[in-house]
Amino acid sequence: MIKSRQPIHQLAWATDIHFDHAEPGAKATFLQALQDSEAEALCLTGDLSEAPQLAAHLQEIARAFERPVYFVLGNHDYYHSSLSAVRAEMTQLSQTHPWLRWLPACDITALNARTALLGHDGWGDGRYGNLAQSWIKMTDFRLIDDFVQAGETGREALLNQLGDQGAAHLARCLPEALAHFEHTLVPMHVPPLRESCLYGSEVADDHWAPYFTCKAMGDVLLEQARQHPHSQITVLAGHTHNICDIRPLPNLRVRVGAASYGQPVLADILSL
Ligand SMILES: [Fe+2]
Ligand SMILES: [Fe+2]
Repeated sequence: MIKSRQPIHQLAWATDIHFDHAEPGAKATFLQALQDSEAEALCLTGDLSEAPQLAAHLQEIARAFERPVYFVLGNHDYYHSSLSAVRAEMTQLSQTHPWLRWLPACDITALNARTALLGHDGWGDGRYGNLAQSWIKMTDFRLIDDFVQAGETGREALLNQLGDQGAAHLARCLPEALAHFEHTLVPMHVPPLRESCLYGSEVADDHWAPYFTCKAMGDVLLEQARQHPHSQITVLAGHTHNICDIRPLPNLRVRVGAASYGQPVLADILSL
């Protein structure tokens, strides 16, 4: 278990900042808001940039904020590269940078005496909705090497595998966190439950749901929340760019942050 260097009681959260789409002025406004905030740490829930610029954009954020930055990656963060190359780069960055921490490489982080943090990128794992009938063609299929190589025939297996990786991380870390902490924050990119995957006020239909919900991680969250009824879980997610805040169980809250391309903003500052 990692302990943060000082107890964190205010955590800034932003999602889908898509820094590669943001004009210099919009980036500067976002970075200034971070600098001015009293939050002791920042959490980013994916789609931060695209692979060739990802590390530089993370370093730019860390330079401005000068406090811990805990993050997971979204599908866009792997564009123009491969899963293994980006993950190796982020693991290395987490091990060497004073502030940047990619959560899948960190297991459990104690933010303060009552609050733990653990998370994983996750992926739309193809298990909600109707993958076989979906007309959606994700840009992921053209711009991430692994999807190019998998082709149409290997796509479902790859989607399942990516969801399972996120679920395995939660299954390994969440029981310990829930046993020792009153509250566990779980950042992930893709919403974990279908009812948390909204377009406007509508739940994602059978075409969108396969690519916009990580059922494998959702199943672990529901199971662990039921097994630890006295411990609270708050999921922070993005990907849909549509705000959502639901409580599927008394001790499980799922929040999805709003976002729009080119306009990075803070989704919230959480009091812990
Ligand atoms: Fe996004
Ligand atoms: Fe995304």
